[in-house]
Amino acid sequence: MAFTVEFKKSGKTVEWEDRYDSILELAEDNGVEIDNDCRQGVCGTCAVKLISGQVDMEEDTGLDYVEDPEQMILTCTAVPKSDLVIDA
Ligand code: FES
Repeated sequence: MAFTVEFKKSGKTVEWEDRYDSILELAEDNGVEIDNDCRQGVCGTCAVKLISGQVDMEEDTGLDYVEDPEQMILTCTAVPKSDLVIDA
């Protein structure tokens, strides 16, 4: 099932492909810059607001360092479970 991911700030909508390990990788491949550091879901640097949709995050302890964690996703571990709109 091909989900779409809309990077709202960047004005880009792209199709998710299973060859990507994370939304961060998808973003990088499409010229969308998201700050990152650990790339393992533990530092919180790559967090962006999830405007709509659902994701799976294998590791999300990095959300402990983020403001309003219930609205945020860690793009380095998140993969889409539906079409998404994110604030990046
Ligand atoms: S880069 Fe550290 S949590 Fe994503």
